[in-house]
Amino acid sequence: ARLGVLISGGGSNLQALLDAAGQADFPAEVACVVSNMPTAYGLERARKAGVRAEVVDHKGFASKADFEAALHGVLADAGVQWVCLAGFMRLVSADFLKHFPGRVLNIHPSLLPAFPGLHAQRQALERGVKVAGCTVHFVDAGTDTGPIIAQAAVPVLAQDDEASLSARILAEEHRLYPLAVRLAVTGAVTLDGMRTRVDAIVT
Ligand code: GRF
Repeated sequence: ARLGVLISGGGSNLQALLDAAGQADFPAEVACVVSNMPTAYGLERARKAGVRAEVVDHKGFASKADFEAALHGVLADAGVQWVCLAGFMRLVSADFLKHFPGRVLNIHPSLLPAFPGLHAQRQALERGVKVAGCTVHFVDAGTDTGPIIAQAAVPVLAQDDEASLSARILAEEHRLYPLAVRLAVTGAVTLDGMRTRVDAIVT
């Protein structure tokens, strides 16, 4: 399967996907990386891995529809079949999703449906939860609302601040995203209304 990875920043999750795709038995390759931020370090990670890296700066477009048309143009040109949002700080529209029905994934640093949106780790600390984590889900038109593919949990420790909790969650993100991509692109996990269905146990 040919993946397009959309980023806005550092791209450590992108790196996890690039590393996984470098393994002979991984069922997907990263065909291109697109950032809406020209300075995103993830672009450098892509180039170092020999992967096409493009900037589609949302600021250069008069409307969201124009921005997304340009984004889709790059992805289509690269032959992308599946889209992975990896720290991509723009909401994608239902119209964009129609180009990749059931084939857009996102990673979010909370155990959804708790703490969608920005600063999920801070939200978790403020709420006083004792277990936090991350979620990979299919993307729908809502914010962090789509059917859940996989989750990983970490403890919240008494001395945690936002940075220490985020780092603990991020380490799990790097493990979880490649696993979830594998489940999705092999069809082991499929959409089933508001949930996902597991069709095979993949070890
Ligand atoms: C991650 O915590 C991800 O879950 C969130 O944004 C962060 C991106 O980090 N959506 P990176 O750019 O992959 O390092």
